[in-house]
Amino acid sequence: MNASRPKNRSIVNDQAEINDEVKRVSARSFYSPLSSMVKRRLFVGAKVNSNVAQVGRTIPLVEESVVESWESMPKDWPKIKFDSELVKDLKDAFQLYADSEGHDIKHVLDCGCGTGNPSIGLAKSGYSVFAVDRDASMLQTFQRNCGEAGVSVDTLLCDWRFLPQVLKSRSPFDAAICRGNSLIYAGTWENPSCSPSEARAAIEESLLSIAQMLRVGGLLYVDIMPSSEFNNSEVQVASLGVRRTNQHLIFMYWVIEHDTTRMIRRVQVRRVFESRISSLPECIKTHSYTGYLLTHIELNAIAKRCALLPIYKSIVMPSESTYQVYCFSRV
Ligand SMILES: C[S@@+](CC[C@H](N)C(=O)[O-])C[C@H]1O[C@@H](n2cnc3c(N)ncnc32)[C@H](O)[C@@H]1O
Repeated sequence: MNASRPKNRSIVNDQAEINDEVKRVSARSFYSPLSSMVKRRLFVGAKVNSNVAQVGRTIPLVEESVVESWESMPKDWPKIKFDSELVKDLKDAFQLYADSEGHDIKHVLDCGCGTGNPSIGLAKSGYSVFAVDRDASMLQTFQRNCGEAGVSVDTLLCDWRFLPQVLKSRSPFDAAICRGNSLIYAGTWENPSCSPSEARAAIEESLLSIAQMLRVGGLLYVDIMPSSEFNNSEVQVASLGVRRTNQHLIFMYWVIEHDTTRMIRRVQVRRVFESRISSLPECIKTHSYTGYLLTHIELNAIAKRCALLPIYKSIVMPSESTYQVYCFSRV
């Protein structure tokens, strides 16, 4: 790897550019148009999966594991609000539901818990949480994060579709959450080449199974990307901010492509490590995943077939700037 930095690109110039970029991405829209700087960093620098020239130097593109990519978020990504704010909003939503329906929420099933957001925060707030994921590496990191947070949460390695069989003797839950646009990955998370009809069937089967884990009157919280994003067939880039270490500037992006013909959403997480000192190694770490482009109309129609009725058409979660939230009640 050639990590030498052209002499005319000073940290001071970078700093001005970074300030501009941070200002721009802090503006209202989550997705920003591609500035020439972002294009250069994300596409010119890493167009093919091999070492490519970027502004006079070579930065390798390194595939990272899903768990490494995911774990970088709570710690590194300035524009993703983890745990405390999300947990507060969820507690408010649970309370609103309890007040209107007269049922307290104590036992929560997290479907697609990842490495612990927001399950660990809910457990710290006193909820009894049971966390399910189909990815063993996520659950391993989840348990390590529980240890660090000083809470104990039961986890289960299981595909959502098999929950009723695996948990058949367990009492039903008061609430289930499927957070982080996770539902659209049913079927495709482990098999990105799954066909749109298979993916859609997996989503329906998953939602039915999750609904069966709820008591009558139980609450399902599920979020999904906003409808304004659907028809955008151009590549969209969300800049999640910049982090500074002694050695690197780390730029964080989601690069999102929607194929509305095949109903596919492809997300590439990219962390660009630019050296602050000329001799340090640089790289772009990347991880991709693919989901079904589930529309809001489809989500509501599927939910209805699964005996889930909408309770608030859509609720606004101040901490949830990325997705639109739906809440359903099990009938
Ligand atoms: C987008 S991540 C969200 C993680 C976490 N809920 C959050 O908000 O940060 C989706 C998670 O769902 C899990 N997942 C995807 N499909 C699944 C399935 N069919 N059954 C169980 N878990 C699944 C993935 O392994 C991953 O951890």
